[in-house]
Parts: sequence; C-alpha cells; structure tokens
Amino acid sequence: MPSSKKLATAVVHAGRTSRYTQSAVNPVVQRASSLTFESLADKKDATQNRANKALFYGRRGTLTHFALQDAMCELEGGAGCYLFPCGAAAVTNTILAFVKSGDHLLVSGAAYEPTQEFCQQVLARFGVATTFYDPMAGAEIAKLIRPETKVLFLESPSSLTLEVSDIPAMVQAARAVNPEIVIIIDNTWAAGVLFPALDFGVDISVQAGTKYLVGHSDVMIGTAVANARTWDTLREQAYLMGQMADADSAYTTLRGLRTLKVRLAQHEQSSLEVAKWLSKRPEVARVFHPALPSCLGHEHFVRDFSGSSGLFSFELTRTLSHDELERFFDHFSLFTMAYSWGGFESLILYNQPSEIARIRPGIERPLQGTLIRVHIGLEAVDDLIADLERAFARIA
Ligand SMILES: Cc1ncc(COP(=O)(O)O)c(C=O)c1O
Repeated sequence: MPSSKKLATAVVHAGRTSRYTQSAVNPVVQRASSLTFESLADKKDATQNRANKALFYGRRGTLTHFALQDAMCELEGGAGCYLFPCGAAAVTNTILAFVKSGDHLLVSGAAYEPTQEFCQQVLARFGVATTFYDPMAGAEIAKLIRPETKVLFLESPSSLTLEVSDIPAMVQAARAVNPEIVIIIDNTWAAGVLFPALDFGVDISVQAGTKYLVGHSDVMIGTAVANARTWDTLREQAYLMGQMADADSAYTTLRGLRTLKVRLAQHEQSSLEVAKWLSKRPEVARVFHPALPSCLGHEHFVRDFSGSSGLFSFELTRTLSHDELERFFDHFSLFTMAYSWGGFESLILYNQPSEIARIRPGIERPLQGTLIRVHIGLEAVDDLIADLERAFARIA
C-alpha cells in the first residue's frame, strides 16, 4: 500500500483532519451548493484555490468531499481523487478526459460490459476507435499500440472470468512504445487497496466505490485516484462534465472505509473456503478465484496483490437448462440474486457460455458450462456452503 501506514491504520485515520472533523470523530456532512464569502478578498482567495480544496462552489466539493478525497489519495498514493456519482461515471469520464476525435484506445475484452459498451456506442460516435485485447496479452499489448493510441484501459481481475493481467509487463511494454500513453485501471475488485496500481506505473486507479468502499449496498459512488501527471487534466475535464458525488454519499463512503480492512479480510477468508469447497464438487469444472491456481493469471495475483476480495466465479461441467437454472437459483435461503457486489451480503448470478462469448471481444477462450458468479459476504461460511450444497442437490 502506498501510504506509510499499514492498511488497517490508514483506513481508520485517513481524511480525519481537524478542518474536516471540527471536533467530531467523523468529518462533518457539509451539504452545499452556495458557499458564501465574507469579503471580496475571501472570494478572490477561493477562486484562486478552487482546484485545491478551497470552499468555492458546491460542484467543486465541500469539507465532506475533501475528507474522502484526501483519504483515497492516502490509501492509493495519488496526487488527487475525483469523486463521481457512480463507478460507471468514473470509468467513462476518466477515459473521456484523455481522448479526442481520431484517437484510439485499448480496452480489455473482459472489462465490465458497460465499459465496453461505452466505447462501442458513445466513443465510436465521436470518432474514437477501440481495440479490445485479451487481458492475458502481457507485453504483447505493445503490438496493438498505434501512433494515435492515447489510452490503455485495464481491468484486473476481469469481470466474470477473473483473469489476472500481468500489469507490470503491460505498463512497461506500453510505455516503451509510447511514454505518454495514459494507463487507467478499473481497480474495483481490489477495492483500490489490495493492488497498488499507481505503484505499478498505472496513471489512474478507478473504482466503483459502490462495492467495497461503501460495503453496505446502499450508496452509489465512483472514485478516480490520479498521479501528478494526469490529475490536473482529469479534474478539470470531469468538472466540465458536471461530475460530482453528493455530500451524504461521500460521508457514507467514508464510514464504510473505516471497516474496509476487516471486511476485506473476512471476504477473503470466506471466499477462499467456499472456492476450495467448490473446486472439489463433481459439478464444477473450474473455479476462477485469483488466489487459486485454477484462475488464469494466478501467478500475477501472487506476485502483485496483497490479498483477495470476495468476488469469484466457477464454471459448471455442463450448461444448465432453463428448468435447472430455476431449480438452482430460485430457492436459496441466504444467497440472493442481484447485480452489484461488495456489500456485507452474499450474492449469486449466472451467465451461459454463449453470453460470455458475446461479451468477450478479442478473447478466444470459450467456456463449456454455465458460469456462476458469487460474492461471498460476511455470513458464517458453513451456512453459505450448506446453501450451495442444497442448490446442487436440486439439479442432481
Ligand atoms: C468492475 C466494475 N466496474 C464498474 C462498475 C460500475 O459501478 P456503478 O454500478 O457504481 O456505476 C461495476 C458495477 O458492477 C463493476 O462491477
């Protein structure tokens, strides 16, 4: 972790300076559009320092936003942190800040599907071309870089199939071809803290704070922590796009942050137990958990990550029929079906091999059986395993 403190200490103390807490333990919730000036000199000062945490106008943030921004910069080692209303806004606006008509960008073919769709449906309309690459490309990524390639967008581990990319190799190879290329990562799975992206030469670490930072499935927020080279551009471009999070969401995210370390430790322990149990089941062909050797890129995970979170998937030996899917998924007592993940509760969803193939441009690794994605929450792991065991019995 980039902070000089250990993660457990940093998440408790980050962003809690007296300017923000005003004698309380937690930062104040400062809800504001107008921020008033006592004098013309004050107004001048706020205007001059509006990009540097002066109280200028609500859209530039208030003390609550500044506290979260400082905390995220400390945790991820950045020069600045922009707050967005959700993770998708963080992804799309961070890319937008660095491309113009005629440019090209490289995006993982296993990235979160709406990220891919943004490139295909929005950027394409503005003359920005996208090539989707295999997240296992490693140094071969260099071959895809063109003179007009401005952005390399990473997501590791991948959505759904959890491949772990060789990010140091990709960063080095990309910079050898174009030292100016802007490298962005969707670092949501690692909550920004289990993989220190900026230390590995990535310029901007984006995450859906909606997941682990918030941790309670009740707030949407996105964060983008940028290095000194990219911070000014990201901040001013995102501001022009009208991006910001509300003060209450920033406050709730800060509250979630305080327990991030202990929650992640439990997600890691429980998800590994469930993953190991699944890998012994006869119905399961492969388990895609970055901490297990059966996951592509496991060696990169061991080398580069300080731990795992609670989201992983597994492939069944065959494709379930509609009737079997209903029997498997409709009767869980603990797991619930929902998009999103990262909260205290366990979740489950599936994709058929044909769907996975459709949302994997540039990747030639077809699945044979139904892919089931689970988020392992904070329940007792034995109860979760029993819930899964009953589901397998229903399709036996
Ligand atoms: C990897 C990843 N990135 C980004 C997002 C988007 O986050 P949000 O739903 O907060 O817009 C998600 C949401 O599921 C995600 O899984």
